[in-house]
Amino acid sequence: MEGGIIANNAIDGLVLDKPHTFRVHTKAYTDREVFEAEMGRIFEKTWIYVGHTSEIPNRYDYKTSYIGLQPVIVTRGDGDVINVFVNRCMHRGAVLCREAHGNAQQFDCPYHGWVYTNDGKLVAVTHKDEVGGYSADFDQPKGLFKVPKVEVYRGFVFASFNDAVQPLLQHLGRARTIIDRRLNQSPEGEIVLRSQPFVARYKGNWKFQTENIVDDYHFLFVHRAFVDLQSKYGDTTGNFGLHPGGNTAEMRKQRYRGNVWGTPQGHGILDAQLGTLEPLLTGRFAEHYKVLKDKYGEDELAWIAGRGIISMFPNMGMIHQQIRTWRPIAPDLTEVTIYPYALKGAPDAYNEGVLHAQERFYSPAGYGATDDMEMFAINHEGLSGRAVDWVLLERGVDTDTVLESGDVQGKPSSEACMRGFWRRWRQLMSEA
Ligand code: FES
Ligand SMILES: [Fe+2]
Repeated sequence: MEGGIIANNAIDGLVLDKPHTFRVHTKAYTDREVFEAEMGRIFEKTWIYVGHTSEIPNRYDYKTSYIGLQPVIVTRGDGDVINVFVNRCMHRGAVLCREAHGNAQQFDCPYHGWVYTNDGKLVAVTHKDEVGGYSADFDQPKGLFKVPKVEVYRGFVFASFNDAVQPLLQHLGRARTIIDRRLNQSPEGEIVLRSQPFVARYKGNWKFQTENIVDDYHFLFVHRAFVDLQSKYGDTTGNFGLHPGGNTAEMRKQRYRGNVWGTPQGHGILDAQLGTLEPLLTGRFAEHYKVLKDKYGEDELAWIAGRGIISMFPNMGMIHQQIRTWRPIAPDLTEVTIYPYALKGAPDAYNEGVLHAQERFYSPAGYGATDDMEMFAINHEGLSGRAVDWVLLERGVDTDTVLESGDVQGKPSSEACMRGFWRRWRQLMSEA
């Protein structure tokens, strides 16, 4: 599989990374050749998040997903083995499984009825021996195309078409700490994706979502209506523990806390320790937090209960209590799926409250997610002309610190996360 025809020197010119400045060319978001190269050089070369084990808890459960443009099926087979197959019939290429998830020992192709087992074997070619059927020498495919690399980290299933992809833990880097802290919010250290996800499409490039999930800078502007409502009506707008803060000044303070990191793997991270544990340890869910305090100590609990937002290169994020994925469909079309999750072992009322909080801000009728989608669309429209070349991603460029790990640490509203993404993007795009 090759990654498009665009030349490396053309790629290099799309990211301007110099002292005191950092700019990305408009074409990196809008150009079709760039998009095609991304499918080969990024989506087929690195680890791609394809699902969570709690979505397929039982033998023969499956879910469908994507690696770039490629539909795939994630299955749990005998012996709890998790496989990822290309969701394409070996006959004439129809998508084999059209359901989001389910349980099936076999998959029957909707087009001409070829049958595959849950572990990908082709077991029936319909009407094979009829007159006018297949030759005696028919070179029958053995089964579905299996994605060669699959690894699971604490329930997160990643797959890669690249046999030589780096070990998953190396790919996760600093993002692993954030995943651990999010999962350690559960007394059992596990999360469960059991609600139907929110799915939406926007008319814009996939990288807007990658950048936005760790962009604190936009919040007070894009979500102005929410901020105003919250200021005016406080918790009566239905605060289930998400976005606390009664007025704009308080929210601004909440926003610009902690640090951001852009990692060499291309991930963006935004994290801040909670200032005080007092409200948690005396509040409605005090028992739940005391269990965590005994397990991890106060300092670590302040991280666990802190912000912990990730944009995982290239297609997955964690924010509040959700896993979010985004999939490129075209240079100007992207699908976003938001999976709220429950904490295993946490009180039911807590998990219900968090789910309502997700509905409140991220659902199609919620306060927030639609605002962002609109920004992505107008961002793409703004970049569609050719009069201006550069997009500026240099906020905080002079206050970044490079850590020994190679992670670049910045102040909370710095664009260090985006710079981390684009440096990795350029590296992979140049490795044709
Ligand atoms: S395309 Fe699947 S059986 Fe023909
Ligand atoms: Fe937003």
